[in-house]
Amino acid sequence: MTTEPISDSRPYSPGLKGVVAGETSLAFIDGDKGRLLYRGYPIGDLVEQGTYAQVAELLWTGEWSDQAHLACAALDRSVIEVLRQLPANANAMDALRTGVSAWGAISAVKYPPTVDQARALTAAAPSILAAFARLRDGHEPIEPDPSLDLAAGFLYQLSGERPDAASAKGLEAYFIVGAEHGFNASTFTARVITSTQSDMASAVGGAIGALKGPAHGGAPTEVVNQLHEMGSVDQAERWIRNTLDRKERLMGFGHRVYRAYDPRAAALRKVAEGLSSVSEWLKMAVAVEEIALRVLHEYKPDYPIMTNVEYYAAAVLQGVGLPPNLFPATFALARHAGWTAHCLEQAKADILIRPDVRYVGPAERSLPGVAAAR
Ligand code: ACO
Repeated sequence: MTTEPISDSRPYSPGLKGVVAGETSLAFIDGDKGRLLYRGYPIGDLVEQGTYAQVAELLWTGEWSDQAHLACAALDRSVIEVLRQLPANANAMDALRTGVSAWGAISAVKYPPTVDQARALTAAAPSILAAFARLRDGHEPIEPDPSLDLAAGFLYQLSGERPDAASAKGLEAYFIVGAEHGFNASTFTARVITSTQSDMASAVGGAIGALKGPAHGGAPTEVVNQLHEMGSVDQAERWIRNTLDRKERLMGFGHRVYRAYDPRAAALRKVAEGLSSVSEWLKMAVAVEEIALRVLHEYKPDYPIMTNVEYYAAAVLQGVGLPPNLFPATFALARHAGWTAHCLEQAKADILIRPDVRYVGPAERSLPGVAAAR
């Protein structure tokens, strides 16, 4: 037996920071300039002139279609029965993940992923989340209205009322900015699962699990809590300094890739300004943002920490009347277009993702008692 220490001097980047782990033609993110393009089109233009259905088709097929329409799908009875078994206080992300898993088992989707599978899963997800939200409140799920686009259809299935134009447009914009964002943790998870030639529902189920963590997709709920805890703009600076002194993070700020202002936050702020129900909250959020950016710069002068998409997502999601406990799962609905587009892209690449790891444990050794007995 050799007792030499095991050493491995290959380069290692904790958290895979800066590591290029694949190729994509879906999104281009310029973190330094705060630019985001889906297949070459700027996110601001897509929000102003496009629909989520058009964006999803663009991501799946590479084509821009004026006719694109995607409505929420009716759920198989068995998916609803699975959701009915969940406790009313279940986390909405857990419910969505469970519903997607049940959908996958019932539809028996197989590898390789297809555009039709992507359309079907993206259309089923809002119906799953709406059904869970209604069941936990003691109401029966509502059949989807095929004339409504996905975002408006989701709001309809939650309340039974057709949303007003501003709310439908607001959530549509949120769905567009949330649709795709490169190799973030959840998308990477979906690609790893697809790379094993597993099916799209498994890949998206895993992605939902990754998105559940507060460092990735849980922030808008926390943004609301944060502002609530501050109470007023006057208290904001003290609250922010206390938080940073405790080495805690400000939610809605910072991003692994963006060193400039997140263009999605800018697009959503514009959308939020059109939602009258949230105007008071937005006024406070804008004032708090200014203070937070100033203080963050003071604390971390060499590491730009800017506003991220979640900050103004909180405004839009509240403005369209969603309860904060549905915010993370609503983000997951929007990301279905991107996740499934990445499944398609990964299947085309057809390469198992399996990185190496550096071993830092003990050198080879004998089990206790074995050496003495020898
Ligand atoms: N508040 C306070 N300090 C921060 C913040 C923040 N929001 N973000 C980063 N920092 C600090 C860290 O404390 C760290 O300081 P240290 O070096 O003294 O320990 C330094 O900046 C670097 O932190 P990392 O986690 O290494 O940087 P990274 O850029 O990878 O962080 C992340 C990205 C995880 C999103 C982080 O900014 C964060 O936790 N933000 C708050 C949560 C949030 O808003 N998440 C939503 C992100 S957007 C999305 O997922 C769609």
